[in-house]
Amino acid sequence: MKLLVLNGPNLNFLGIREPDIYGRQDFAALEEFIRSAAQEFQVEVELFQSNYEGALVEKIQWAYGKMDGIVINPAAYTHTSVAILDALKAVSLPAVEVHLSDVNSRETFRRISYPGMACERTFSGLGFEGYRQAIQYLKETYGA
Ligand code: DQA
Repeated sequence: MKLLVLNGPNLNFLGIREPDIYGRQDFAALEEFIRSAAQEFQVEVELFQSNYEGALVEKIQWAYGKMDGIVINPAAYTHTSVAILDALKAVSLPAVEVHLSDVNSRETFRRISYPGMACERTFSGLGFEGYRQAIQYLKETYGA
């Protein structure tokens, strides 16, 4: 099974940005964590991070016909991006949304998720572990 794992804007600043909210581990540590979770569940992962909405849309389109599912932390685009929602709907691959922080217990504008409307599950507030649970869910639901 092949999964695309997408991370949106400012996640490359993990460890630097608001560590009380997002933790002290950096983005390289997150990527390592995701790779080891993928190994645990015997899935192949393609990792992609961008600060650009269009680049995330293009990567979702790229996944069509190549990947079996998508794990996405759209970061700030969660709360604004109909384009990412439409891209997920367009490829119609099983998708799971992840947030490091608990978006529902923060500012009210973080309670709306457009990409989440095309996702089967959301793991929020679990830190890195949310990515592991997302991979596990897709493997157990769709994996060979
Ligand atoms: C985030 C939550 C978003 O509200 C925020 O804009 C982010 C990160 C999270 O992982 O907790 O950049 O997606």
